[in-house]
Amino acid sequence: MKSLRTLKELEISEILELLEDARKFKNGMVYKLTDKVIANLFFEPSTRTQNSFNMAELKLDMKVINFNAAMSSLQKGETFYDTIKTFEAIGVDALVIRHSQDKYYEEISNIKVPIINAGDGVLSHPSQTLLDLFTIYEEFGKFEGLKVMIVGDIKHSRVAHENIDTMTRLGMKCCVSGALEFKEDCFNWKDFDEGLQEVDVVMMLRIQHERHNEKMQISISEYLEKYGLTHSRVKKMKPQAIIMHPAPFNRGVEIADNVAECEKSRIFKQIENGVFIRQAIIKRSLS
Ligand code: CP
Repeated sequence: MKSLRTLKELEISEILELLEDARKFKNGMVYKLTDKVIANLFFEPSTRTQNSFNMAELKLDMKVINFNAAMSSLQKGETFYDTIKTFEAIGVDALVIRHSQDKYYEEISNIKVPIINAGDGVLSHPSQTLLDLFTIYEEFGKFEGLKVMIVGDIKHSRVAHENIDTMTRLGMKCCVSGALEFKEDCFNWKDFDEGLQEVDVVMMLRIQHERHNEKMQISISEYLEKYGLTHSRVKKMKPQAIIMHPAPFNRGVEIADNVAECEKSRIFKQIENGVFIRQAIIKRSLS
């Protein structure tokens, strides 16, 4: 029984094993967890992660409970801890959880069933990082020496934080760019237009308004022009370089409408690969 809380807790060899299992699932490996029951508990909105976990669970022949926070006893004052304890008492075999609190999993450390983190606060989103790595490896066949630039709301992004940490451990060179209000001094900052000519991967991030205390004082068109991936910027990228985005993306804000599905974009490939990665994660937790 293995939880997946953050990739920081995994050795590089374990990360590579998960990627290898995902590759096998993509190539048609069949693995059944027929008698196992898994619950997806999303205390924050999600389209990709929740439904991709759900698809992975169905492919593994599992029985699935999708918790609806808006119709739950949370609305009657029940706590997060007691909600999770209830699912353990019901007898589920594993829990997939997303919550806005950083390291929410520390509050439920006495829970005996595996916890699979589907995103906590601004810190970690391990299944997203793994699917990003899987997509990059499919493209380049290596990690060592690849250059990645992550552009956008770095400060409020769990994807940026977990990706930079893990990619650096794998020998990739990471830099960040975007509006200065999203800058974090611990990361290597680059001018957007200079950096995108040098990197192999440009990863765009949306503005995470829901995590801001103050409304941004910039128009959408100004944001796109200054910090967005426009068609003219794509033309400056290296011939083999690719565009990624964890999504949801906002067309015409951080990425131009005609760029989101351009030839360099791997955004929907990332989403496709997410199912195989999540099959591998659940297999690891329950096998
Ligand atoms: N990338 C991602 O986590 O998307 P969702 O918020 O839709 O799950």
